[in-house]
Amino acid sequence: MSALSIEIYKEFQQQFTSKPILIQSPGRVNLIGGHTDYNHGFVLPAAIDKRFALALAPNNENKIRLRAVDMDQVVFETDLVKPFKKSPVYWPNYIIGCVDQLFKAGYEISGFDCVFGSDIPIGAGLSSSAALEGGIIMGLSELFDLNLSKLEMVKLAQRAENDFVGVQCGIMDQFANIHGKKNQVIRLDCRSLEYSHYPFNQDDIRIILFDTKIRRELAASEYNNRRKQCEEGVRTIKKAYPEVHSLRDVTHEMIEENRKHMDSVIFNRCRYVIEENQRVLNACRNLEDGDLASFGQLMYESHKGLRDLFEVSCRELNLLVNEAEKLEGVLGARMMGGGFGGCTINLVRLDQTDEVKDVLVTQYESTFGFKPDIYTAKIGTGTKVVSITDEVPFE
Ligand code: GLA
Repeated sequence: MSALSIEIYKEFQQQFTSKPILIQSPGRVNLIGGHTDYNHGFVLPAAIDKRFALALAPNNENKIRLRAVDMDQVVFETDLVKPFKKSPVYWPNYIIGCVDQLFKAGYEISGFDCVFGSDIPIGAGLSSSAALEGGIIMGLSELFDLNLSKLEMVKLAQRAENDFVGVQCGIMDQFANIHGKKNQVIRLDCRSLEYSHYPFNQDDIRIILFDTKIRRELAASEYNNRRKQCEEGVRTIKKAYPEVHSLRDVTHEMIEENRKHMDSVIFNRCRYVIEENQRVLNACRNLEDGDLASFGQLMYESHKGLRDLFEVSCRELNLLVNEAEKLEGVLGARMMGGGFGGCTINLVRLDQTDEVKDVLVTQYESTFGFKPDIYTAKIGTGTKVVSITDEVPFE
């Protein structure tokens, strides 16, 4: 069991005295397939070795009592009574949102206490919110014998984010959080929800994340705005092709043919999504062939599309990717997650990791006056119940 889980377990016992269950719930990376999930396209994420640890126990009081050890030391308390209202303190909403969805889906739970902590950097594009939601849903399923399937957990967690928190995210983060496997990336078809795991060899390659440390307030509203623009593109194309339901059903020919009916911004958004879906499929082929050099090139192309056509990048992300592209030690790099800040994901040759870090940190600092944070991400298992006697630190 990890040091974080032990700390959380002890914190729980000090706070609430009862004996909790323990859950570990990871963040995710996405190698390629940016902003394709809510367009019913393809993505290639993986769960990572940064995660939440959550300790939960029933309290027989019809109350939810929560403590986020990284946020503050006070216990947040609310009655377990419908309708659930949004809390003015932000973080409990991820949890109340999950409880709300469980009730809406007809599951009965009673009061519970929860203490949690995390080593996932917040707002860095590593899906700390999906990790918290997935951890709570699995924890409550375990605590109250709900027997939720993995897919039900994913959907409930996504709906909590969409309906309660108010971010219209796709399904990728919650899916990767629950379905992650050690050393495997997940190719997910976000339309059919069919998925397959692909081995990702990290013997000679490291997945290194450079965190711009830029966090933009407008990121959530711009995200929702991109989603609307994609929907607008679909509405236009649907007039000529009624069988089209999402950008996944749209071809290059269709958008070219309808270009005159679309604003150029909408055209660019659609074009990016169509190209990105194809890149994910090509990248999977590269993985099967063990051709990480070609895979890396697709990551650079993905970044350029996100920067120029989808317009969700920023100068800090662009600098990190531009400089990475000049280095022989980096096979591929792109911005990751919603955009406007957060991290770039880089595939770096193991023997050149120090050099790559030095060059990128120097370039970044000399341009922006501060250093990026650096994380090495290992691909690991999805959300799971861990035993307090579990000796395995991470798998
Ligand atoms: C965020 C969302 C995901 C996905 C990515 C962009 O992480 O939560 O659903 O859309 O952005 O790929």
